[in-house]
Amino acid sequence: MELFDLTGKTALVTGSSGGLGANFARVLAKAGARVVLAARRLEKLEALASEIESAGGKAFAVQMDVTKPESVDASFAKIQNELGAPCDIIVNNSGIARDNWFTKMSEEDWRAVMDTNLDGVWRVAKAGANALTEAGKPGSIINIASITALRPSQTIAAYAASKAAVDHLTRVMGLELARYGIRVNALAPGYFKTDINDEFLESEIGDKMRKRVPMRRFGDYDELGGPLLLLASEAGSYMTGSTIVVDGGHVVSAL
Ligand SMILES: NC(=O)c1ccc[n+]([C@@H]2O[C@H](COP(=O)([O-])OP(=O)(O)OC[C@H]3O[C@@H](n4cnc5c(N)ncnc54)[C@H](OP(=O)(O)O)[C@@H]3O)[C@@H](O)[C@H]2O)c1
Repeated sequence: MELFDLTGKTALVTGSSGGLGANFARVLAKAGARVVLAARRLEKLEALASEIESAGGKAFAVQMDVTKPESVDASFAKIQNELGAPCDIIVNNSGIARDNWFTKMSEEDWRAVMDTNLDGVWRVAKAGANALTEAGKPGSIINIASITALRPSQTIAAYAASKAAVDHLTRVMGLELARYGIRVNALAPGYFKTDINDEFLESEIGDKMRKRVPMRRFGDYDELGGPLLLLASEAGSYMTGSTIVVDGGHVVSAL
């Protein structure tokens, strides 16, 4: 288990005010990392920080809007001030969805999805990687993509395109950062019930989709913990530029 131990490491998780991100933070804290919780809803982050600290972990909340360069810069300055060191692990998890036929989607919705899901990942990875290279430290960046990056689905054009871009950006980042000892990988989850999709997953169409998943169910949050730890820790020390699919077999479902 030593391979997965994160004692002495600091891990930043964007979008940790709820859903998958909050659970990623809990998993990393349990593995021994000090976690930096980032998102726009500071009160949710502070509540999670208290929960993690009560369970014996170390956590620190910082407000960050990944769509705003000045907010990302201010958060990284605050992290550096508070902790005196860069984050060893960065989980780029913030994301939003706007469903519509691509022919009906507004400019505003398209931009909001791209700004958060793609530009936000680039912006946070850039700040995090620069902080690590300036300090001469290795690190691990984990981008949260989606199986929608790999197989098409209707009415999620902006979301799917943003995640496909994140998937490929992961390979380019991995290539550029390998020389600094910084690994960059992606997780591509299938469907896990959170605020981003609960209405859809609970609908009749959502249930039909569940029946097409080879494992016939959606994922449990904890089922992403192992793959996350693999990428975050020494257990994944020779992995970079890869994408791990965690989807109950959804992308290999029969045509
Ligand atoms: N659930 C799934 O089935 C699934 C599948 C594949 C991939 N994913 C991906 O997993 C990630 C987490 O999604 P989720 O399912 O956990 O959804 P969620 O519960 O809606 O969480 C989304 C998180 O993103 C944060 N966020 C949104 N806009 C932000 C911004 N401008 N700046 C900073 N943070 C922002 C939100 O925090 P604030 O509102 O407090 O800022 C929230 O914590 C997303 O990237 C999503 O695309 C989810």
